[in-house]
Amino acid sequence: KQQIIRLLKENIRNIPDFPKPGIQFKDITPLLKNPDTLELTSQVLAHPFRHMDIDYVVGLESRGFLFGTNLAQDLHAGFVPIRKPGKLPAETITATYALEYGKDEIQMHKDAFEKGDRILIHDDLIATGGSAKAATELVEGLGGNVVGYSFIVELTALHGVDKLPADVKKEILISLD
Ligand code: PRP
Ligand code: MG
Repeated sequence: KQQIIRLLKENIRNIPDFPKPGIQFKDITPLLKNPDTLELTSQVLAHPFRHMDIDYVVGLESRGFLFGTNLAQDLHAGFVPIRKPGKLPAETITATYALEYGKDEIQMHKDAFEKGDRILIHDDLIATGGSAKAATELVEGLGGNVVGYSFIVELTALHGVDKLPADVKKEILISLD
């Protein structure tokens, strides 16, 4: 497992000053480009949540869509998209959040799942935790039961995980400073 994680880490590159000066952007496109790391990432993301009876994986637009649907398929769960404002066609609920570099809103369909459903929230990366926290609010707003969080990368210096409920399982593949 440590060897796999090292390989994944080698396929994430740092782009300084993107999209704004001072931001160190963690670019996962090399990891997507390499067929081995693409497959391995899917496998290691799904593994900890097997046998957890996940009903839906909720993925955050847009990079949370890259592995989110695959993760759902692997867990034999459905996939629910959280999108940026104005993108979802049916009735939505909205949450506001502060991003590492800006402020935004996210939305989810009101009929995305049923009350009490077991939800796994997935995104590629957790920075400040603002978007994951907002996603949690959306899910809980519909009576969903958040039973797990799945991220490929965590930016440890920003302590985003501290914004999330302490008693819920969190799986992070790679922690970066
Ligand atoms: C990035 C990243 C996470 C979020 C993490 O998305 O993919 O979704 O920021 O930041 P936070 O923990 O501080 O909320 P971004 O908004 O850049 O959009 P994208 O996924 O559409 O590229
Ligand atoms: Mg994102």
